[in-house]
Amino acid sequence: MRQSEWIQRAYKVLPAGNFGNFESSVVICEAKGSRLWDADGNEYIDLLLASGPMILGHGHPEVVEVILEQIGKGTTFFANNPAGIELAEVICDAMACAEQVRFLSTGGEADMYAIRLARAFTGRDKIVKFEGGYHGMSSEAQMSLAPEKRVDFPNAVPDSAGIPAAVRQDVLIAPFNDSEVTASIIEAHASEIASVIVEPMQRCIPPQQGFLEFLRDICNQHDIVLIFDEVVTGFRLAYGGGQEYYGVVPDLCTLGKLIGGGFPLSAVAGRADIMSHFDKAKVGSDGFLMQVGTLSGNPMASVAGLKTLEIMRRPGQYEKLRQNGSAIQQHIHQSLNEFEIGHQIFGEMSQFDLIFADQIVNDYRDSQSGDATIMTRFLRELRKNRILKSPTKYYISLALTEEDLSQIGEAIRQSVKALVEVV
Ligand SMILES: Cc1ncc(COP(=O)(O)O)c(C=O)c1O
Repeated sequence: MRQSEWIQRAYKVLPAGNFGNFESSVVICEAKGSRLWDADGNEYIDLLLASGPMILGHGHPEVVEVILEQIGKGTTFFANNPAGIELAEVICDAMACAEQVRFLSTGGEADMYAIRLARAFTGRDKIVKFEGGYHGMSSEAQMSLAPEKRVDFPNAVPDSAGIPAAVRQDVLIAPFNDSEVTASIIEAHASEIASVIVEPMQRCIPPQQGFLEFLRDICNQHDIVLIFDEVVTGFRLAYGGGQEYYGVVPDLCTLGKLIGGGFPLSAVAGRADIMSHFDKAKVGSDGFLMQVGTLSGNPMASVAGLKTLEIMRRPGQYEKLRQNGSAIQQHIHQSLNEFEIGHQIFGEMSQFDLIFADQIVNDYRDSQSGDATIMTRFLRELRKNRILKSPTKYYISLALTEEDLSQIGEAIRQSVKALVEVV
């Protein structure tokens, strides 16, 4: 069946014609290594990586082998299983903050429970979240996720319909990388704040020197739980995540994407005294945080995650990942410089973004300052040149070959050239 027919069928049964994650104009039928094929048989190089998890590429033979073996043994149990227990051990070894782990199925769920856990632990209600920070789809996380309206800090703007007005009162919004304003917000409400939740690299905006250290100190000072959302950065920036890469240890972290090896699995991990609120025997009825999930600790996801992380531990993997990212960044710079188009790349080598602006990106507002019209055209051209990527991120995999990298370079050059011809 042709792609256009699939698209028509999708529009009938799916709101907006899609699953809510990616736009409706492409229907992916197959993926292998660094490549994807749509329903018309068009081949793409994958820089979307299923929004992050496929760091090894699609259908890695060693991952496929453990998945096939696990299918024969059972796909889900709603009970402890060896793979899940082992994965929890691997997470505790890898993540500096992790003494214990609770598994969930999605990153957003992990963030929601991490926030609730901080509330259970501190007995306080308010949280501090950064403007533009992404923590899934809970009511709290939807506050000032991608606000079009500029309001004064710490006021929160809901980015979704259907959120009770009362939620706004408990979410204080701060500017990422601005210690002064963040400190004044925290100090004004310290005794009511349960947690500060932050992506150690917010979307693709790296923390400025000292910002995460400042958050660590101020949270210590006021007994506030510091949560690093490492759903993206965990095992990607470094094996030990953003907390290893930037050298700051939170109280809790959330993980997703890579730890399920392409299957639905996420986790809250952190200090045992905080995690004990998942254990009624330790904290009693009043402190107990009820949490149950049908697929939590799913063995299929756990074996895929375990194998993915084992492969990531092999020597040279992070160097290779960063080299791949660096090669793509160089291609972008070269082509845009050649045609004298002002731009900024921000992020780290394993994951970054581009804007058409001269300004260095330090926070959400800076990240919105680029020329959106040129970006829309550029993204359209990249797609025409058979690069599949999210509108806001370049996700780098280990599956990229030298041939892929030079093909990406050529696709970027052609896309930039097309931009110039239109302008
Ligand atoms: C930083 C961050 N946190 C949480 C999430 C939510 O994860 P999920 O889509 O698995 O719910 C995402 C998703 O991309 C994310 O980037």
